[in-house]
Order: sequence, then structure tokens, then C-alpha cells
Amino acid sequence: MTKYQIRGGNRLHGEIEISGAKNAAVAIIPAALMVDGVCRIENIPQISDVTLILQILQELGADVRTVNRTTVDIDCSHIRNRKVSMEQGSKIRASYYLVGALLGRFGWAEVPMPGGCDLGGRPIDQHIKGFAAMGAQVEVRNGYIDAKCTNAGRLTGGQVYLDIVSVGATMNIMLGAALADGMTVIENAAKEPHIVDLANFLNSMGADIRGAGTDVIKIRGAERLHGGTYSIIPDQIEAGTYMVAVAAAGGEVLIKNVIPKHLDCITAKLLEMGVDVEEQDEAVLVRRSGPLNRANIKTMPYPGFPTDMQSQIGAVLCTARGTSIITEGVWDNRYRYVDELRRMGASIQVDGKVAVIEGVDHLTGAPVRACDLRAGAAMVIAGLAAQGVTEVDSIHHIERGYENLVEKLAAVGADIRIIETPDEDSKTQVG
Ligand code: EPZ
Repeated sequence: MTKYQIRGGNRLHGEIEISGAKNAAVAIIPAALMVDGVCRIENIPQISDVTLILQILQELGADVRTVNRTTVDIDCSHIRNRKVSMEQGSKIRASYYLVGALLGRFGWAEVPMPGGCDLGGRPIDQHIKGFAAMGAQVEVRNGYIDAKCTNAGRLTGGQVYLDIVSVGATMNIMLGAALADGMTVIENAAKEPHIVDLANFLNSMGADIRGAGTDVIKIRGAERLHGGTYSIIPDQIEAGTYMVAVAAAGGEVLIKNVIPKHLDCITAKLLEMGVDVEEQDEAVLVRRSGPLNRANIKTMPYPGFPTDMQSQIGAVLCTARGTSIITEGVWDNRYRYVDELRRMGASIQVDGKVAVIEGVDHLTGAPVRACDLRAGAAMVIAGLAAQGVTEVDSIHHIERGYENLVEKLAAVGADIRIIETPDEDSKTQVG
């Protein structure tokens, strides 16, 4: 079994370069299916979710060529297939973007129900409602989402009011609408940076999308999208994770290749906790030398505090002075990491969507599990701050969304390495 081993207590000093945004990449790569010509996509993060989505495109018949470490050329001129294999499609949440992309370009799609982190119920009713408003017939059967256009193989523009602010539904409807016949309006749309990034990608290939980043998005369907070059934005959550890691471990780190505006919600909380954060043009300098203060956190859609940072900030609040309260405002079940932090001596009570954290003097190293992607990042952060050795298993979850996490942290002085242990040695098997 491959694990991360962390000996806590080192302060972090130096620079960390942030990679391209996972949640933008996993939508923009499927969007290349809609393009008639070659798309060059730059600043792609090297993470397993991206590898998987590129493999799915290849299975469908796309020609994917690696230009360099972070750039690929994708040519979807010869797509043979509109059906995504169960084996690949069910492993990843973002496979649902293939429905919008295939339906928009070819008029039908068969895509497995998505996988991804277990965060409680993850319905897709708002995606389906959006496609239905654009004239598609959508059924879920045998584990597949089966979607067909009823109007001569082309979606027609429609009016969609989202009952819940959904990132995935907003982006999926935007994909389908980009090549629909006429105008689509999405109301109560999500506003995350990756929504704006997908709109910018599609617009740079000839789409007509206005209002992305506000709660009303208007999409006038284009006849075709043409090839071009596009660079993905930096990852807000990866940057936030390293900011919080510096808060936990102490030290001074310049976090480079970021859009500081996207980090405002995280910066504000860290300042409240007594951490210095200095915004620069495309970087933030994070410094912590004194004790950490308690803080209350409520996760919300952007520009609120991101749910994808909840477990990482939870880990750092374990050693803040006083009582902190976290309220999860997006997912039903995002506290599975709490049991793991308790193994390290954290004092946390969870009641439904609320977690109450009593700050303790210090955490102690322990064997823990990465229950999901962000929970795994939280375990690493806790390990950096803890006294003694922490071993994190199930790290495949972390590798889904963080490029070279071990190398990036080791380069700023963390004592972290990848180790191999015999399987039976693991104390925390998945039950
Ligand atoms: C995206 O998931 C991200 N995943 C998640 O990041 C992130 O936590 C989430 O947005 C919120 O920011 C990807 O981009 C691949 P939603 P998504 O639709 O699109 C409910 C990470 O760690 N809902 O915005 O699936 C839903 O149950 C991952 O990187 C419906 O009720 O999230 C949830 O309560 C984890 N019906 C809320 O909306 C729907 O049809 C928000 O979900 C869709 C969603």
C-alpha cells in the first residue's frame, strides 16, 4: 500500500507554484468534443481525474496529443462513439459534462451515472431539468444517463431556473446550449471561477455566452465552434490548501500563479485567525508566526467560503485558541474526516451540518485515511502541524486533484515522503 508519511513540526519556507484548476479542466476537456478543429489546452494539471477524462475522450475517438507537461492538443473531428464505457465513466464525477458536450454537438449521449467523492446524496435532477428545457429526452436506466434531442438532432434554446445553485448543472447546461438552436437563459446560476473559465473557453472557440460569473447566464447557440488555444485558470482550491497548510505549520510561503481575487474568501478567514496574507499581482504571501485564533466558517456557493476548503480549514482550526463552529452549507455529509482527526487528538463534535471544534494545544501523529480528495488534503495539513509521525493511506483520492503534492510541500521544507507498506500493515482498511 502506498502512503504519505509526514513528520510534523517543520515550518514551511519558500515558494509553491499552483497548477491549473481541476474543476475547470474536467469541464473544458469534455467541451473540446464540441469543437470542429484542434483545441490546444494549456495549464492542464497533472492529476488522475484529468488523465481519466482524457482517456474517455480517446475512447470516444478523439485524437489527443501531448505537446508538453501541461499542454495537450485535442482534435474531435473523428468521434466514433457517443456512448461512454461504464468502466471509465463511473469513476469520475465530471463525466456528467460529457452529456452536455455530446448532446450539444451530436444530439445524443449515453454516459454512466457519475462517481467521485462520497459527500452524501449527489443528485443530477437540475442537469436533467436543463436538458429537458432544451428539448432533450433524458432517462436514467441500467446505470446510464441516456439523453436524446427530439428536434432533428439539435437542442433548442430554453429558459432554465435552477432550484438549487449547482456548479455542475450550470456548466452542463452551458455546454449543451453553446450549439443549441436559439437562446438559452440560466437563472440562479452558480458563479464559481471555473464557470467563467468554461464560458471564456467556449467563447474563444466561437460561442456566444454572456453573464458567466453572475446568476443569469445567456447563451446564444452558435452554428459551430472552431479550434483555438486556451489556458486554464489557476486552481483556487489548490492555492487555498497551501495557504491553510502554512497557517497550520507556520512559516512564510509565496504561493505563485494564483488569481488573488478568487482567494478573497479564504484570505479573509485566515486574517481573522491571525495569519498574515499579502496579495501580490499573481501571488499571495502567507506568513504565520503567532498563535491561531478561532473562527466560524459557513460554506456557500462562490463568492462564499468554498465547501472544497471546509475539511482543510477544519484541520487547522483543531489547534486554534477557543471554540470554532463550521456549518456545511452545500453537501449533506462532508464530515467523514472528523473521525480521522480525532485519532490525532482533535476535539470535534458533529451534529448534522454543524461541527464544533474545541482548539487543543497540539495534535499528535497517527495512521489516518484520506476518506475523499479534500479530506485527504486535511490529513496532510494536520500531519504537518502534529507532533510525531502521521501516515495517510488511500492517497489515490488526493492524487485525483493535487498535482505533485508531496514534491511541492517537501520543496518548502515539509518532512513528507511517499512510502510503501505491506497491505496487512494498514490499520485503517476501508470498511
Ligand atoms: C462541483 O460538484 C465540484 N466538482 C465539487 O468539488 C464541489 O464541491 C461542488 O461543485 C460545489 O462547489 C466538480 O466540479 C467536478 P453542485 P457538483 O452541483 O457540480 C445539489 C472537489 O472536492 N444538487 O454545485 O457535483 C447537490 O446535492 C469536488 O473538487 C442537486 O440537488 O456540485 C449539492 O447539495 C467535490 N441537484 C448542491 O446542489 C443537482 O442536479 C451543489 O452541488 C445538482 C446538484
